[in-house]
Amino acid sequence: MTAAGQVESKRNAGYRAAAMVEDGMAVGLGTGSTVFFAMERLGERIAREGLRITGVPTSYQAAIRARRYGIPLSSLDEHPELDIAIDGADQVDPGLNLIKGRGAALLREKCVCDAAREVIIVVGPTKMVDTLNAPVPVEVLPFGVAGVSRRLSLLGAAPVLREGVKKDGPVVTDNGNFILDCGFGAIGEPRDLEAAIAAIPGALECGLFTAYKEKITVIVGEETGCRVVSLH
Ligand code: A5P
Repeated sequence: MTAAGQVESKRNAGYRAAAMVEDGMAVGLGTGSTVFFAMERLGERIAREGLRITGVPTSYQAAIRARRYGIPLSSLDEHPELDIAIDGADQVDPGLNLIKGRGAALLREKCVCDAAREVIIVVGPTKMVDTLNAPVPVEVLPFGVAGVSRRLSLLGAAPVLREGVKKDGPVVTDNGNFILDCGFGAIGEPRDLEAAIAAIPGALECGLFTAYKEKITVIVGEETGCRVVSLH
């Protein structure tokens, strides 16, 4: 797919997701370039239709972009239950297990995903895979990074501390933590791996999302239109 085609696929997925948002909803706002299109369309709906929504952003990036589009913002403190969340993903398998966290927003994204009654994942077609095999980002308490890295190695990973771009040293997340990118190769049992990582003290969250498939709808944008994948 050409670069222009990829942009169109993201736009088509984002716009379709924005059309699923109804008046009065509290909406989780994910992080990444595909969700931007959903936010753009939500901003248009607010301006043109008078759509009234409240957004709960998953990152500084999401909050900055939402403000630009005129989406009123709140927090999980005010909205511990969300009507819907729209987010991107880095890989999606046929069982709707996800890898997320390329943008280092996975911890807040999982909190928002958990809080939402319905989760819309917006992706381009290259994100759909038969078996998850991308590196799994793990958000780590800096105090525990050496021990967590050792434990992740025992699970079969080759953890790499994520380095900043235009910033020397490690990426520091919106929560003040580090990211270890963990290549496991093909992940046969993502749910078991997610549980094993969750059991490591100092591993605050990982980018495997395996517990939400019943409430997830994936919108796969194509150059023209989209297809919708869900298990319900
Ligand atoms: C952010 O940490 C990730 O979970 C994103 O949701 C993911 O990287 C999607 O980004 P794009 O829509 O830019 O591919």
